[in-house]
Amino acid sequence: MNVKHATQGFGELDIGIAELDLQHRHLLHLLERLRDSTDKRYGYAANAILEELAVETRIHFAVEESLMRLLAFPEIDIHLAQHRLLTEQLHKLRQRAQDFDVADGLSGFIQTWLLDHVDNFDRKFVAHFVAMGVDPLAVPRPK
Ligand SMILES: [Fe+2]
Ligand SMILES: [Fe+2]
Repeated sequence: MNVKHATQGFGELDIGIAELDLQHRHLLHLLERLRDSTDKRYGYAANAILEELAVETRIHFAVEESLMRLLAFPEIDIHLAQHRLLTEQLHKLRQRAQDFDVADGLSGFIQTWLLDHVDNFDRKFVAHFVAMGVDPLAVPRPK
């Protein structure tokens, strides 16, 4: 699956918890920008996007992990292991991303990883969260 197709089809991958879906969409938007920047020429733009992606990924994982802990999600350990794996792989790829070819491959790699993770892991906690009282439609209030 390439990045363009994956992003276009992301509506089908919404897990049904509005705030997390917003975060997933933002991460995928960053991936799309990363792909666009590496299509042209890898350089400052891609580095900045990778940096933002790393920060946003860390925040997103922290939110999910807090919810899983607070709501006693039974499969938290395996989910956390997946987050750690993605974080390590992202870190390694960022270290190697000075090379255009690596950066180009990076976009598709992370995209696939993220989409697979959302579909195979994030989706699993939704019923538990809702049963524990999470409002699936709650979104951040405008500032
Ligand atoms: Fe997620
Ligand atoms: Fe997750």
